[in-house]
Amino acid sequence: MKNLLQFFLCLIIVLKTSGADEVIYRRVGERAVLNSPVLPHQYYVSWFFERGPEIEIADVSYFGRKHVNPGNRLSISTNNLIINNMQEENFGTIVCKVKDDFKFTFPYLCILVFMLVSMEEQRPFLIPGHRLSLNCNAETKRRHSVYWIKPAGNKASPIQGSVTKKAESQDNGKWKCVVKDNGKESEFEFFVSVVDFSSASKYVYTSTNLPLSIPFWITPKEFVQKILSNVETIEWLFTPKTSSTQQTIFSFSSKNGQLKQEDTASELSYKNFTDGGNFSLHRNLARVEDRGTYNCSITFTNGYVLSRSLVVDVLEITPSPGTELISGHHLNLSCSTGGPLETGVTVKWVPPDTSSLAKADFLSGHLIITRVGTEDSGKWRCDLRRNTTTLTSAVITLKIDPILTVWMIVTICAAGIILILLLILAFILFRRRQRKMRQLRHRLCKCKNPKPKGFYKA
Ligand SMILES: *[C@@H]1O[C@H](CO)[C@@H](O)[C@H](O)[C@H]1NC(C)=O
Ligand SMILES: *[C@@H]1O[C@H](CO)[C@@H](O)[C@H](O)[C@H]1NC(C)=O
Ligand SMILES: *[C@@H]1O[C@H](CO)[C@@H](O)[C@H](O)[C@H]1NC(C)=O
Ligand SMILES: *[C@@H]1O[C@H](CO)[C@@H](O)[C@H](O)[C@H]1NC(C)=O
Ligand SMILES: *[C@@H]1O[C@H](CO)[C@@H](O)[C@H](O)[C@H]1NC(C)=O
Repeated sequence: MKNLLQFFLCLIIVLKTSGADEVIYRRVGERAVLNSPVLPHQYYVSWFFERGPEIEIADVSYFGRKHVNPGNRLSISTNNLIINNMQEENFGTIVCKVKDDFKFTFPYLCILVFMLVSMEEQRPFLIPGHRLSLNCNAETKRRHSVYWIKPAGNKASPIQGSVTKKAESQDNGKWKCVVKDNGKESEFEFFVSVVDFSSASKYVYTSTNLPLSIPFWITPKEFVQKILSNVETIEWLFTPKTSSTQQTIFSFSSKNGQLKQEDTASELSYKNFTDGGNFSLHRNLARVEDRGTYNCSITFTNGYVLSRSLVVDVLEITPSPGTELISGHHLNLSCSTGGPLETGVTVKWVPPDTSSLAKADFLSGHLIITRVGTEDSGKWRCDLRRNTTTLTSAVITLKIDPILTVWMIVTICAAGIILILLLILAFILFRRRQRKMRQLRHRLCKCKNPKPKGFYKA
């Protein structure tokens, strides 16, 4: 009976130890958390290296003892032992022994596996077309599998732990090595830097009221210093929205080191790209003719061509018949990028606050006001939006004169003319009357004069 009990007890111990062993895959410099097994009420836990003579690392007990080997990389609690900044000598099997007051021992193993994740010929960056070779190795005899996940999220070639290919811009970014052991996965990130255009949006939105800036950026920064020795030519091409003929705006050849402006009509300016890797083009005010696709392509000395295309949309408000109107007139306002909008992109009008239309919701590119009023004077804004984000805005200022002014001018002019006519008439009448009076007086004098003469004489 006692023997049978002991046998069962042993069996429980064996099951417990074999089931609870922990395998941890880590790189040098990383942190490992070794979890304690289930502890009895009155516990004494000690952690030590399995290899050679037992070297105790740390111990902890139920009556408050907590002890770690000197150094600042270890910390212990009842739940775990933490090793910060793992060093090569920390790898191997660490044993955790648990005792309680009845002196039962549960040996518990933590296996720390050393991982080596590296790139052949470690370089700060790769030129596209050069060899990219990644390795991921686990130093263990345990059964495990290793594979890589590309920055885009898909699995790389299935060769155990190593990837070899020609570097492309898609390889730029965070690679992940995944180690699978007994169903448990551990991931190791590895950054690969391949020379590429920085990932900005494919669309550039501006308006005829705003500057034009076509952003072409090259990364990483370290490459910029070596640009002239790695690049053969750089070309900026432009395809207008209304045409399919591509024209060269600028071209650069490292042979003569000269940046040449091919299309002087575009009047775009550029920064010194050998200084900061800024290949952007700029103009103070965007024009309708700037609409189209801009393409910057770099030919490396190894023949690889890296290119980036950006679509420029210029928003413009076209008023018909014009911006200066008399109230009561018909006005047609059109806000457009000169073609159909991308899906999800909308136009929204913002009339001046005083406008009788201020509170209406205008979501069409064309706005027809059958009779404009003076209250419609002011700044009319048109926003190009994606969901609630404003991509760009165009503004127009309307000047609407009151119709009264014109009538008043007409009335005043007419009144003036009538007044002048009346004055002239009055003058003529006055003159005529004066002449008549004089004639009358003259006649009166002629017939009256002899009488007093005779009277006098008599
Ligand atoms: C890059 O160049 C463009 C055009 O010259 C300019 O607008 C932009 O501010 C520049 N960016 C930086 C960070 O210098
Ligand atoms: C551009 O910048 C580089 C590096 O600062 C300098 O050597 C070169 O003279 C500059 N070129 C121009 C045209 O300013
Ligand atoms: C840029 O133009 C070149 C030459 O026409 C073309 O080969 C390349 O595919 C274009 N790049 C993009 C991203 O459209
Ligand atoms: C308003 O103007 C736009 C473009 O300026 C034009 O396409 C449209 O036919 C005009 N609508 C009316 C009713 O005049
Ligand atoms: C914006 O709109 C797009 C397409 O209409 C949609 O897929 C996306 O979820 C929206 N985003 C937000 C933040 O509403």
